[in-house]
Amino acid sequence: MWTRYLVLLFLFVSYFHCHNNGLARTPPMGWNSWNQFYCDINEDLIKGTIDTVVSTGLKDAGYIHVNIDDCWEEMKRNEKGELVPHQVRFSHGIKSLADYAHSRGVKLGIYSDVGLATCQGRPGSYDHYEIDAKTFADWGIDYLKLDFCNLAPGQEAEPWKYYSQMSKALNATGRPIVYSICNWGYRDPFFWAPSISNLWRTTGDIENNYESVVKILDLQRRIADFSGPGAWNDPDMLEVGVGWSTLEEQDSKYSSPLKPGNSLIPNKGTNGRLSPEESKTHFSLWCMLAAPLILGNDIRHMPKWVYDIITNKEAIAINQDVLGIQAKIVAEKLAGNFNSTNACTSARCTHTEVWARPLDNGAVAVLLFNRGGDNVSEQDPHFSMENIEVTFAEIEKPFEGKIKMQGKGYRIHDVWKHADVGFTSDVVGANVAPHAMNMFVLTKICTENCR
Ligand code: GLA
Repeated sequence: MWTRYLVLLFLFVSYFHCHNNGLARTPPMGWNSWNQFYCDINEDLIKGTIDTVVSTGLKDAGYIHVNIDDCWEEMKRNEKGELVPHQVRFSHGIKSLADYAHSRGVKLGIYSDVGLATCQGRPGSYDHYEIDAKTFADWGIDYLKLDFCNLAPGQEAEPWKYYSQMSKALNATGRPIVYSICNWGYRDPFFWAPSISNLWRTTGDIENNYESVVKILDLQRRIADFSGPGAWNDPDMLEVGVGWSTLEEQDSKYSSPLKPGNSLIPNKGTNGRLSPEESKTHFSLWCMLAAPLILGNDIRHMPKWVYDIITNKEAIAINQDVLGIQAKIVAEKLAGNFNSTNACTSARCTHTEVWARPLDNGAVAVLLFNRGGDNVSEQDPHFSMENIEVTFAEIEKPFEGKIKMQGKGYRIHDVWKHADVGFTSDVVGANVAPHAMNMFVLTKICTENCR
């Protein structure tokens, strides 16, 4: 009898010992080189970014990880089978960068691939999980993103097998390393990744346009319950400010190399960069989703409006709420005719969504979103200002008891106006322009029957 209990206890303890590294109790925050720079990276960029994270207060706002993405490696391992940093671009090695980051109170992240080669053809970690984990730990790495390109036979069918080998290898190093699985949502990682990692991508790559943001948003609707402290759904890194730079006027080639079709001109077709309003929407939605907030822009040269968005303390507080409950869609309105690519084919269309999530202390965050046209600029004549309203009953419904609002009074605080804007005991509403949103925190008004 007792032996049975002991065996069960052993399995329980070893399971959690193996996989739960205790990190990322709130969604990770930081920066990654890919969305703006692709392969055009070097140690000066990383150092400059570390400096900027500190000097601009981004670190104090929570952005503590600076993560190097693909292309940091030489094309071949050394004779000991170890990964080697690019000899010219990272001539002082990754350890010296990690030391530099740590001296400034910042954490350094790195990238590899679960398969034979990275997406850009550098050596992958397949068959080398232990040696690579050891290399990363020896260098002082704090965060690993593991991609899903160039797989070896068998890996595609059972990705969890290989991702868990790296998980064990990381844990075996004894160094706390945030583990980010990047297999694009393939084979439903939300079922198997929570027990072996801290975050897992739920979709393919985000692109620098509005259509991509809303497409990714749609894919987060049914998976909210899989995310939580220590293990997060990752709808991919932020595009806020990507392609926007204070250097732009001096250097028209500033953002190169761009992906084909990625225009630098605001609101030009579907591949234009996000406008300021769309950027605010993207950021707010990611805060509601309890998504990792990994910046993708060149923070060394960002316009003020970009800085203001990414440092909105009240929005970040929603993202970092200790309950870690991902927002759900609680109301939605579609009117007019849409074709298969979601373009409006009647004279007028409406497409609005309301997202909500419970916060600590009985507060509730609500986002009223006028989605408008998915794949055109904010000026699409088919869509206009909408009055969006949601009732307490609608907000409560999908949360099955986690939110209890009916019969109580709430103060409405506007997260972007930084001001209280009213009181309510039944409905929240606002007039919202296409591609824009209003984000509110509702706080219970404490009377004697507050509880
Ligand atoms: C994949 C990932 C991206 C990025 C690139 C690098 O596409 O999903 O986030 O890391 O690889 O090559």
